[in-house]
Amino acid sequence: MAYDIDAIRRDFPILDLKVNNRPLVYFDSGATAQKPLCVIEATERLMRQCNANIHRGVHYLSGAMTEMYESAREEVRRFIGAERCEEVIFTSGATASINLVAYAWSQRYLRAGDNILVSEMEHHSNIVPWQLAAMRCGAELRVLPFDERGELRVDMLSELIDAKTRLVAVTEASNTLGTVPNLEPIIESAHAVGAVVMVDGCQGIVHGGGRVAERGYDFYAFSGHKLYGPTGIGVLYGRRDLLEQMPPFMGGGDMVDKVTFAKTTYAPLPLKYEAGTSNFIGAVALSEAIRYVERVGMDAIESYEMALLGAMTERLGAISGLRIYGTAERKCPIVSFTVEGTHPYDVGMILDKLGIAIRTGHHCAEPVMTHYGVTGMCRASIGMYNTMAEVESLAAGVERAVSMLR
Ligand code: ALA
Repeated sequence: MAYDIDAIRRDFPILDLKVNNRPLVYFDSGATAQKPLCVIEATERLMRQCNANIHRGVHYLSGAMTEMYESAREEVRRFIGAERCEEVIFTSGATASINLVAYAWSQRYLRAGDNILVSEMEHHSNIVPWQLAAMRCGAELRVLPFDERGELRVDMLSELIDAKTRLVAVTEASNTLGTVPNLEPIIESAHAVGAVVMVDGCQGIVHGGGRVAERGYDFYAFSGHKLYGPTGIGVLYGRRDLLEQMPPFMGGGDMVDKVTFAKTTYAPLPLKYEAGTSNFIGAVALSEAIRYVERVGMDAIESYEMALLGAMTERLGAISGLRIYGTAERKCPIVSFTVEGTHPYDVGMILDKLGIAIRTGHHCAEPVMTHYGVTGMCRASIGMYNTMAEVESLAAGVERAVSMLR
C-alpha cells in the first residue's frame, strides 16, 4: 500500500501551525516527536472518563484503569519483542530507566576493580549514570571510540572488554550521528565474558529497534515521547533473572509486599520497580501511539524516512562549506551538520524565522562534539510526517542563512 503522507499529516494537528507566518516545518523529531490525534484524544478521554489510581482500588474505575495499564504493558512487551510482561517496567522516560539500572544493577553486580564500557557516541543519559555508578563502586569507565564516519570501532572490543567488564552501554541509533551500529559483535563480546548489555533505544525504537529477546539485549530503555506518545512515560526492559536479583531502586507505594518497621518485602516484578503512582494515562496513550505506528506500518515508515534522509543528505551535502557529521553505512534519519563561517545557533535562529525547527547545540552528546573539535552542530531529524518539499525548504533555508551570515 502506498504511503499516504497527506492522510498521515492530517493525523498530526500541530502540523497546521504557522510559525513566524510560515507553515511549520518540523525537523526536530529526534528531540521529541509530534503527537497523532489518537494519542491526544486518548489522553483527554482517559482523564475525562477513566481517571483512577491503579492497583489500589476495589471500585470500578480503578479496576478499569488497572486493566488498561496492564494491557498497555502487554502491548509494549509485544512491540519490543520481550518474552514476559514482568520484564517491562514503566518509568518516566529513558533517563529514568537507565538510572534505575545504573543504580540497582551496580549495587548488586559492580565491585571495585570492575569496568564498564560505554561508546563514545552515547547520549549523556547513557554516560553519566554509568560514571556515577563507577564512582560509587570504584569501577573504571572505558570508552569504545568511533571513527571519522561515525562507525563504532568494534575492532577494539578485544582490547576494551576483559574478564573484569561487567556491563556495556551502547546506543541502538546515535541521536547525533544517526549511526545505527551493528550491535551483534558488541553483544557477543560482552556476553563472552559474562557482561551484560544496556541498549539505549531512544532513537532506535522508532527506526527498527527493539526485538530485545531475539537480539540478546539484557536491558533496553526508551521514552514514549519520541515514539509519537506522550512525555513523562518511558520503558525499561530487563531480563527477568537480572531484575529479580537486583535490589529495588525507589521505595514507596505499589512496590511492596509487606511493610513493617523491622523489615519490608517487595512486590514481584514488574511492580518492584514501579514505586509510587505510575503515569497510567501516559502508559495507555503510549500504547495508542504504538498501535498508530503499526497501523501505518513500521517498514513503510522506515522506507519513507530513508528516502527523505537520502534526499536531505544529498541536498545539504551539496551546499558549499557544509559538513555532515555521521556518514555511517546504516543510519537513522538524522543529519547533523555545521557550515563553515557560521555558528549553529545563528543558522538555527534564521531557520526559525522561516518556520523551520531544527535542534542546535551539543545534543546532549558532548563527547561527539569533542571528537570533531566543535562546540555544537545543527541537527535535522526526520519524522514520519515530513515531506520532500520540507527537505527542499530546509536546504533553501540553510542556503539563505549562510548567505546572510557569511
Ligand atoms: N535526547 C533528545 C535529543 O536528542 C532530547 O534531542
